[in-house]
Parts: sequence; structure tokens; C-alpha cells
Amino acid sequence: MNFQNAAFESASGRVEQLPPSSVPEIVFSGRSNVGKSSLINKLLNRKSLARVSAKPGKTGTVNFYRLPECRLVDLPGYGYAKVSASEKLRWAELVEGYLNAGRNIRLVVQIVDFRHMPTQDDLHMIDFLVQAGLPFLIAATKSDKLNKTQRTQQLDAYCTLFEELPDTLLIPFSAVNGEGVEEIRRQIELVCMG
Ligand code: GTP
Ligand code: MG
Repeated sequence: MNFQNAAFESASGRVEQLPPSSVPEIVFSGRSNVGKSSLINKLLNRKSLARVSAKPGKTGTVNFYRLPECRLVDLPGYGYAKVSASEKLRWAELVEGYLNAGRNIRLVVQIVDFRHMPTQDDLHMIDFLVQAGLPFLIAATKSDKLNKTQRTQQLDAYCTLFEELPDTLLIPFSAVNGEGVEEIRRQIELVCMG
């Protein structure tokens, strides 16, 4: 699969605005500011196709990027305290509406911050994915910020935490040094072509 030829397709702020589900979709989910847009840019080898910001809460819409074989879908991040209650509700409805719409979702890349254990919101999201029967993998991002000792510690802790999900892939990732990029691309290829 060629990941170089992506283009922005559309953005939806409401469930009613979602484009029809046709091509396979690869979804990127995670809390606000965890690095979803950066991960997408790294996969696509682009500096700023998906907008990256040091300020959380940047992506408030479901954004679709088109590849010849599939769509990449950037979800609004959850768990950002400073967003107003009404915005939070809109985002929750939008994300749930998207995930529950019976679309052609082939894989959810659930992104967590490798420096920390998953938040309550992350665990809720993972639980939702399990209950909904959506195929997912966990990308543990910002791995560049961990030294060797911390990395081993976090790997151990994550393996223990996800003991009950033995078939779930955990992929350490860094948008800075590119760790994990090829592995995630491979998983996308597997679900799109297979
Ligand atoms: P929202 O759209 O607000 O939900 O955020 P997001 O999840 O799309 O995060 P975004 O990609 O905008 O990145 C947030 C911040 O984290 C930015 O300052 C990025 O430069 C930084 N960042 C993202 N990925 C990495 C990484 O792998 N390593 C390091 N060191 N920083 C990263
Ligand atoms: Mg974003």
C-alpha cells in the first residue's frame, strides 16, 4: 500500500454530516493532545496534513483522509477538562454516533501515552471497543520520551494491565523518531487488503 498519496477528504462536526460509509475505515482514537494527528501525519509521511497543536482540543470534528485503499479517520480527542460541557456532549455524541453507525471500520488504532498508564477515559474507550466488537490495537505513543528503564517498566505494566486481552497488539510508537510506524502501516495493510 502506498501511504504517500493521502489527501484530506472532509470534516464532520455532527453525525448527520458523516460521509456515506463505503471504503474501509481506519480510526484513530485517544484522549485530547495524546498525539493522534501527529501519528497520522507520520504514517502518511506528511508534516501537517492533520493539524497538530501543543494546545489540547484542536480536533473538534471527525476528519477523513483518503488513501486509494481506505480512509484514515481522526476522531476528536476525549478527556480534555477545559472544553465546555456542551462541547463535550457534542463530541461524545459525534464519536459514539460515528462508531455505532455500522460503518466499514476495519481497525481502531487506540492511542495512549506510553509515559503513563491509560486514564479512566482510555479504559472506558477500550472497554467500549471490546463490547462493540471493533477490532483494535493499542499504540503507545511518545516512546521517545522514555529512557530504557522507564520503557521496560511501562511495557511490563501495560502487559499486566492488558493480561485479559492477550490478542491485543501493543505497539510502542514515536512521531519523533518513527518507532512503530512500519508496524502500524503493516497492520493497516493487513486489514485493508486481506
Ligand atoms: P487533539 O487534536 O487536540 O485531540 O490532539 P492530538 O491527539 O491530535 O495531538 P497532536 O498530534 O496535536 O499532538 C499534541 C502534542 O504532542 C504536540 O505538541 C505534538 O508535537 C506532541 N507529540 C505528538 N506525538 C509525539 C511523539 O511521539 N513524541 C513527542 N515527543 N511529542 C509528540
Ligand atoms: Mg488532533
